[in-house]
Amino acid sequence: MIPVEMTTLVFYVNGKKVVDENVDPSLTLLQYLRNKLRLCGTKLGCGEGGCGACTIMVSKYDRSTQRVIHLPVNACLAPICSVHGMAVTTIEGIGSTKTKLHPAQERLAKAHGSQCGFCTPGIIMSMYTLIRSMNKFKMEDMEIAFQGNLCRCTGYRPIIEGYKTLTEDYELMHVANGLNNGKCKPMNGCAMGDQCCKLQKEDNSTGGLYSPSEWAPLDPSQEPIFPPELKLTDQYDSGSLYFKGKEVEWYRPTCLKDLLELKSKHPAAKIITGNTEVGVEVKFRHFVYPVLIQPSLIPEMTGWKDVGTGLNIGAAMTLWDIEHLLRDVISKSPKWKTRIFQAIVDMLHWFAGKQIRSVAAIGGNLMTGSPISDLNPILMAAIVELELQSKNGTRHVLMDETFFTGYRKNVVHNDEVLVSITIPYTQEHQYFYAHKQAKRRDDDIAIVNSAINVLIDPKDGTIANIDCAFGGMAPTTVLALKTREGLKGLPWNDPNTLDKAYQLLIEDLPLSPSAPGGMIQFRRALPLSFFFRTYLKISKELQGTIPGITISKRDESALDQFHYQIPKSSQYYEVAPDGQSKDDSVGRPVPHVSAFKQATGEAVYCDDIPYQENELYMAFIYSTKSHATLVDMDASEALQMEGVTGFLCAKDIDEHCNQVGPAIHDEEVFISKTVTSMGQVLGCIVAQDQTTAQRAARKVKVTYEDLQPVIISIEDAIKHKSYFPNMPKKMIQGDVDKVFKTAPHVIEGECRTGYQEHFYLETHCTLVVPKKEDDEYDVFTSSQHPSEINKLVAHVLNVPQNRIFTKVKRMGGGFGGKESRGAYVATAAAFAASKFNRPVRIMLDRDEDMASSGGRHPFLLRYKVGFTDEGRILGCDIQIYNNAGYSHDLSVAVVERAMFHFENAYKIPVARVLGYVCKTNLPTNTAFRGFGGPQGMFAGETMIREIADYLKKDVVELSRLNLYQEADITHYNQLLEFCTLGRCWDEALESSGYAQRKLDIEKFNRENRWKKRGISVVPTKFGIAFTLRFLNQAGALILIYQDGSVLLSHGGTEMGQGLHTKMIQVASKTLGIPISKIHITDTATDKVPNTSPTAASAGSDLNGMAVMNACLTINERLQPIKDRMPDASWEKIIQTAYIDQISLSCTGYYRTPELGYDWNTNTGKAFNYYTYGVAVSEVMIDCLTGDHQVLRSDIVMDLGSSLNPAIDVGQIEGGFVQGYGLFVLEEMMYSPTGFIFTRGPGAYKIPGFGDIPLEFNVSLLKGAPNPRAVYSSKAVGEPPLFLASSALFAIREAVKAARVDAGLPEAFKLDAPATCAKIRMGCQDHLTAKLDVPKPGTFTPWNVIP
Ligand SMILES: Cc1cc2nc3c(=O)[nH]c(=O)nc-3n(C[C@H](O)[C@H](O)[C@H](O)COP(=O)(O)OP(=O)(O)OC[C@H]3O[C@@H](n4cnc5c(N)ncnc54)[C@H](O)[C@@H]3O)c2cc1C
Ligand code: FES
Ligand code: FES
Repeated sequence: MIPVEMTTLVFYVNGKKVVDENVDPSLTLLQYLRNKLRLCGTKLGCGEGGCGACTIMVSKYDRSTQRVIHLPVNACLAPICSVHGMAVTTIEGIGSTKTKLHPAQERLAKAHGSQCGFCTPGIIMSMYTLIRSMNKFKMEDMEIAFQGNLCRCTGYRPIIEGYKTLTEDYELMHVANGLNNGKCKPMNGCAMGDQCCKLQKEDNSTGGLYSPSEWAPLDPSQEPIFPPELKLTDQYDSGSLYFKGKEVEWYRPTCLKDLLELKSKHPAAKIITGNTEVGVEVKFRHFVYPVLIQPSLIPEMTGWKDVGTGLNIGAAMTLWDIEHLLRDVISKSPKWKTRIFQAIVDMLHWFAGKQIRSVAAIGGNLMTGSPISDLNPILMAAIVELELQSKNGTRHVLMDETFFTGYRKNVVHNDEVLVSITIPYTQEHQYFYAHKQAKRRDDDIAIVNSAINVLIDPKDGTIANIDCAFGGMAPTTVLALKTREGLKGLPWNDPNTLDKAYQLLIEDLPLSPSAPGGMIQFRRALPLSFFFRTYLKISKELQGTIPGITISKRDESALDQFHYQIPKSSQYYEVAPDGQSKDDSVGRPVPHVSAFKQATGEAVYCDDIPYQENELYMAFIYSTKSHATLVDMDASEALQMEGVTGFLCAKDIDEHCNQVGPAIHDEEVFISKTVTSMGQVLGCIVAQDQTTAQRAARKVKVTYEDLQPVIISIEDAIKHKSYFPNMPKKMIQGDVDKVFKTAPHVIEGECRTGYQEHFYLETHCTLVVPKKEDDEYDVFTSSQHPSEINKLVAHVLNVPQNRIFTKVKRMGGGFGGKESRGAYVATAAAFAASKFNRPVRIMLDRDEDMASSGGRHPFLLRYKVGFTDEGRILGCDIQIYNNAGYSHDLSVAVVERAMFHFENAYKIPVARVLGYVCKTNLPTNTAFRGFGGPQGMFAGETMIREIADYLKKDVVELSRLNLYQEADITHYNQLLEFCTLGRCWDEALESSGYAQRKLDIEKFNRENRWKKRGISVVPTKFGIAFTLRFLNQAGALILIYQDGSVLLSHGGTEMGQGLHTKMIQVASKTLGIPISKIHITDTATDKVPNTSPTAASAGSDLNGMAVMNACLTINERLQPIKDRMPDASWEKIIQTAYIDQISLSCTGYYRTPELGYDWNTNTGKAFNYYTYGVAVSEVMIDCLTGDHQVLRSDIVMDLGSSLNPAIDVGQIEGGFVQGYGLFVLEEMMYSPTGFIFTRGPGAYKIPGFGDIPLEFNVSLLKGAPNPRAVYSSKAVGEPPLFLASSALFAIREAVKAARVDAGLPEAFKLDAPATCAKIRMGCQDHLTAKLDVPKPGTFTPWNVIP
């Protein structure tokens, strides 16, 4: 028996001691915080360490240095027992609206860095930890601090700008510029004269959207102190620990002997340091590990020593500590000696995020043996020595080609523990480089990585030894043995050596065309690219030592990867005129009304609602087949589990009530007979808590009979004519066949856009509370469409709609994904609540949400276009297909919007547009910001470029030539009035300095072979209105109380877009009172009925007018009193009105006039007006790896007279970055049978902090009021998204430049997303030419394009 000193968990949370004598070691810290302590400020976004929403600070006392160490940690992966003896700080612990905000909270909120706010606590806690860990920090430190945080709303710029003000760089810049705390001295007093920051673009970072000078300064003396008890006594961090839960035991031994004893007793026990692998295995792969051993007190495993030939590093040393250690050693040693250490340090920068690196250990990475581990190629190419110990003794093994024995298997025995790793010093003529290419640079696992270790014989310049290790090319990390043998002894400086190396690498690294992970040719190309880059790097170092080595200037461009640079930005908008009343906030950059609550964790999201008495948790049983008959479901085993209340399926629900859907009822709450996609809901389990419910749901046995065909892609659907009824939709203007007969030129082409996952940070969530009488139910839901939830829940429960009270406080992002899809969660929860007459809650896990809820439709667009010699478009014939998935949902309306918008901003006088909605065996796709518009517009932009390529004309001139002008008529016969496209275009070109930069780019491209730049200009024109006419209506309710406070309700929901803020501004202006007197609590169907979804960018337009109308009615009623008492305060007027028996409540209503497009005649007004914009983007690509960086984006948008420029700029930036995800980064991976591989942030990459343009300038067109919307404003939610295609088209230009260098035809097809694989494979060169191409049809690919 090993000694046990403690069995009680003790730790501190926000200064309060938590003592738990009965802790369950299977819990994560996040579960403990949210479920047990009900500290709900810390959010669950993914549960796999990939989003940072759960970031908290863990502080511990280091007795050796007598310092408190603060670390950012993902609470979703940290086992609760791992914080024993430590202090945890959550967002609630650093500031509150009731007391005082911490500067980290205040600055983010005031800089408009919180939209939906779901990511906000996590981002603030990353920043807070940085502040607490470093006295002074630079932008670069901030960049590292945010590597592990994601935000789907803001586009990151305001967060970076807000926090920039805390950095040393900012201080230095402002001291240099004669500024004091962000305030410019008067012009004549500024030492910089013409260089004054006020005149410099880069210093217009706040753009007047806020004033940093007014923000509270950082004051370290105000920070909470580390709990003295944890400093004074070492009883918590020195003794052995043992916790026993129902299923899991947790040990923390104090010496290696005890640990080995334990391991011998429990050979299957897991050694846990960071739990970043094991945590994911347990949560998502449902592995069960009954015994966990924490090695944090074992000196041999946590320390390090210099052993002369290298460093011996404890296997449980964290990556963060290793990085610091190695940096220190590197700084004190000659460069040649520490080349492996340098490679590790460089690689660690790209390894996960800071939260993971703070806790994850080198031993965990090595022992997991992932084929895409980032450290294993380095450790293997360095052939490090591993010390393994068991109770029976010690072994030393080399980490060479024999170490891994299969996928995630190695030679270590079950009872053995990896104690330490000896990483050698390098010799004087030894060179070592490691590389990694991932989908996204920050916080992403590798597609392929490599480490190359070369020893040169200085006598003759030959290769004395070479070890090359690769990840991502086989089920294990591989050492290239043939390459080693074949290259030994060859002269380094000989082109034949390089050629031989490529050939040997190809032989060493065969990859089946069906290999898991896909991207086969790209992956085969990468090792050659990495080798070439390494060759050049080493050659550069050898220049001067080996005769004859030279590297051309053009080749030098291969040496560098993209590096961090401090981002710059500017925002321009029309400021409110001097004479505008101070109470009139319209046109002013008022912060989001919930920003402070979001920044302090006080904002309540659906899953933060307190537990209800008798509450149950619901978990779904999902289909695992794409097309099958549902033969049987057996829940008997699940029902026997302790804590399970019941099981429900289609048999429990009336057939009619089971039929649901947003427009057409072609879905079922629970599938009754035929499964038509994976991820459909077959039934549910309700139980005492989430873990029990989900575990029981997995025990339900489902029997299927497979059906054919299984239709996944649009091409499959075309082949099987699998369309929804009444296809194709047609829109015909003129006789296009006639045009083609006479047009001087006609070309044909096709393009496609991919699936996009909404990735709202808050997944679908509902809580249904039966109200015990009259069939009444409160439905709290995270939905953009409470009225539809109300209608469908009533239908499913077979009760009148007036018994269902649907309430939406706020959503943690929606983006269209919560317009119709929230219903499948809410209706099932309501049904379960009615069946068991108890409250029922469900919040989908990220993997469930991604695999079942659908997203943006993939599109295929095939076109034929006729044009003049000059390039003017004469006519176009286009077929537009979208992949709808298994049901209608909103797919017809989505294809319709693509049909309206396929021409983007170009006049196409004659058109035949056919739209097909393809029925496939995929989860049903749905609304997503832009609603088919961006996908349609992609055709217009692709066409214009193909015409330019064909005519060899400048695409910018050609675009301008075809750009719509005032009074033009669209292909659906709508007259363009107040068309500002030309103004936006000219201003964008001018302000971006397009003409000069194009010349600079051409020069750069001539001088650099392996990096290329490209620039593109993209306009957009987005029609504002729901294309379904009846949806263009809205209601509002205004209640004024005797103290003068106003409670406002309207039909729109708040999902971060600032709708409530804008509505309060509208009401404040119309009533003439300050915004502080107006409050919105939620969106509720018992206040405003029959509302439209908050969608189509129309939320402010519709609800704003309804709010305004309600206020105008109130004003009319109050006017006599105001006339009577012209100087009376608002409160006095209201009190008088009450005494005078004047009604102080009022509804407002609005419907958009004149709308009504007729599909039969192609006439009638489709849109109320258009929002216009233009973007200019410049990128740089790495031709060898397909990596890229957006160097600069300039956007000019016409938003009329902006209601709130801060919110509108935020929508533009957020929309642009989300669009960048669609067009460049995000890729959902499907198997040929419809299985979704990408189910979380680990595999599906949305843009991160490091992906935004290095320079990001946004300008709102001035002097363009819009007569068609509230207070002359314009809708903004969706229109900017398409502008991000400018990044894709700039990439296209860059790839074209690379192709010219390689002697290839310039023209090539670049579909969205323009991933690194497509960029690399577009830049064909001498390396890709060496790869044979597998014959299509001879293999089954791992993934297919839907
Ligand atoms: C969001 C996220 C991002 C990531 N990004 C990257 C990345 O960019 N690159 C990359 O390579 N990896 C990445 N990973 C994987 C993971 O973080 C690393 O593999 C990490 O180093 C694992 O360390 P750990 O201490 O958390 O392991 P744990 O989960 O604690 O343990 C992992 C496994 O190793 C075993 N083990 C640990 N120590 C020993 C020992 N001393 N002796 C015997 N067995 C032992 C454990 O029993 C367990 O089976 C990422 C993971 C997450 C969640
Ligand atoms: S919830 Fe923990 S990182 Fe996403
Ligand atoms: S504000 Fe960041 S995810 Fe919404």
